[in-house]
Amino acid sequence: MGMTMQELREQFYEKLQQANAAEAFEELRVRYLGKKGEITGLLKNMGAIEPSMRKEYGAKVNALKEEVENSIKKRIEEAHARELELKIAATERYDLTLPSTLETGSYHPITLVQREVEQIFASMGFTIEDYDEIVDDYHCFEALNIPKHHPARDMQDTYYLDNGQLLKTHTSAAQNAIMRKYGAPLRAIFPGRCFRNESTDACHENTFFQMEGIMIDENISISNLIYFMKTMLSEVFQRDIKVRLRPGFFPFVEPGFELDISCLICGGEGCPSCKNSGWLELCPCGMIHPNVLKAGGIDTEKYTGFAFGLGLTRLAMMKYGIKDIRDLNSGNLKSLDQFVK
Ligand code: DAH
Repeated sequence: MGMTMQELREQFYEKLQQANAAEAFEELRVRYLGKKGEITGLLKNMGAIEPSMRKEYGAKVNALKEEVENSIKKRIEEAHARELELKIAATERYDLTLPSTLETGSYHPITLVQREVEQIFASMGFTIEDYDEIVDDYHCFEALNIPKHHPARDMQDTYYLDNGQLLKTHTSAAQNAIMRKYGAPLRAIFPGRCFRNESTDACHENTFFQMEGIMIDENISISNLIYFMKTMLSEVFQRDIKVRLRPGFFPFVEPGFELDISCLICGGEGCPSCKNSGWLELCPCGMIHPNVLKAGGIDTEKYTGFAFGLGLTRLAMMKYGIKDIRDLNSGNLKSLDQFVK
């Protein structure tokens, strides 16, 4: 008879010790567990075993078989783990003193303009507020003096969620919450992403940015509004900007205006960009409607205020001469690459 079970076990472990590559493990598996393998061979010896001992013998051989199988498996797993560790160690090694060859990213033009405008308003005592993109009907419309079925809702078709909430159509949707949070007097701006169910073209997108602002205090008048807008725009464009107000209707302001700036491309002479009028529409605004102040818990006997909804996307397009609004949401790195790093 060949080796005893114990001898076979010892021999196996000795060989396993020496094995260190995938092929070597496979070789061992075939040598001991394969059809013609040594452990399999032990079972074939069964005939030579005394019948009363066979059961015990069979169980012992099976136990050895399992032991060998598990030991090989364990070694294979260990080898894999070691290989991975080596790989990680090799790729993670870096030299801090090497000059970088990686390109750095750039800010999106809307982010650049947003930060600039934020800074200007912050220097005039305005706080900067963040607000949800998902709002309810009350905040987006009702609190802004736009009751259900009011025709003004038609201009702001949007995306409704199953639970009745909606994606905000304008940053004005934050007015009520901000008035309730701070009360009067109050100076705040709140930039945000807005959504409308629009067919897109060079001037229209379903997703765009606005920057809303409100100022509420005693004796606030239209002259305050004009002063703040003119100062802000002159800073953004780094030159004195001429503005004009035209009447405009928005249910949440009374009186309401469209604020135009003199065309920056032709200097007011008239060109295709301003449809030969010499003026560009930039910022609807007005004196906050008493119903809106009341809904925000503000004492209308004591306070008045102005509000504006600056088209941030529009402003970025004008500042950087971007002709197609869709470039801004395209994610195209070539468009972004042109902006300040
Ligand atoms: N929320 C309006 C819109 O998106 C814009 C607007 C108009 C905002 C007048 C204002 C305002 O604050 O006073 O169409």
